[in-house]
Amino acid sequence: MVSDPSRWDEKYRAASLAPVLRVESLLQRHQRDIGELSAPRTALDIAAGTCHAAVYLAKQGLNVTAVDCSRVGLALGKELAERDGVRINTTTADLTVADLPKGPWSLICCFRYLNRDLFAQIPSMLVPGGMLFWRTFNVHHLSKAPAFNPEYVLQPGELARHFSMLDVLTLSDGDDPKENTSWIAARRSV
Ligand SMILES: C[S@@+](CC[C@H](N)C(=O)[O-])C[C@H]1O[C@@H](n2cnc3c(N)ncnc32)[C@H](O)[C@@H]1O
Repeated sequence: MVSDPSRWDEKYRAASLAPVLRVESLLQRHQRDIGELSAPRTALDIAAGTCHAAVYLAKQGLNVTAVDCSRVGLALGKELAERDGVRINTTTADLTVADLPKGPWSLICCFRYLNRDLFAQIPSMLVPGGMLFWRTFNVHHLSKAPAFNPEYVLQPGELARHFSMLDVLTLSDGDDPKENTSWIAARRSV
């Protein structure tokens, strides 16, 4: 079986630098909250790929670390950051076997990746008042993309259940069959 790093490196080798920065609507919606985050103003982008979210957060003045199993994806992310006039830190790690980079983090985000083993670690890695943003495919995606691996889709209610110890700011958790992603923005109590 092909490992995650080999599979994603191969995919990103066929990619080129994106012409424009792709901004996650969930981050944009909470831009003001992100601007008001208190020290240390560090952010972790999990399974960052080519680092669009990481670069966006660096542009908001955060000290961002992007972690991904693909060094090829992260290299494209570094180029994107340079082009957009910011710096990001990158860490190559296969998160099926490695731990998440140690915080403390003022913000943790993850887009289009699901690894349920990470969920339990996250709340305590956030500083008090720190924010979590997670958005990925849910079970409704399978009707659009039947070949998609059903292990990697969220069931209805999963995000709220996994992050019940955080204060939820925004939640769409698979109740609407028209939405093929679920998302959460939440904050650790001060
Ligand atoms: C669909 S892409 C999403 C990338 C980015 N978050 C985005 O939204 O553009 C999924 C990402 O998960 C990463 N990934 C897959 N398996 C991984 C693993 N075992 N450890 C770390 N990253 C992994 C891939 O390299 C890829 O960059």
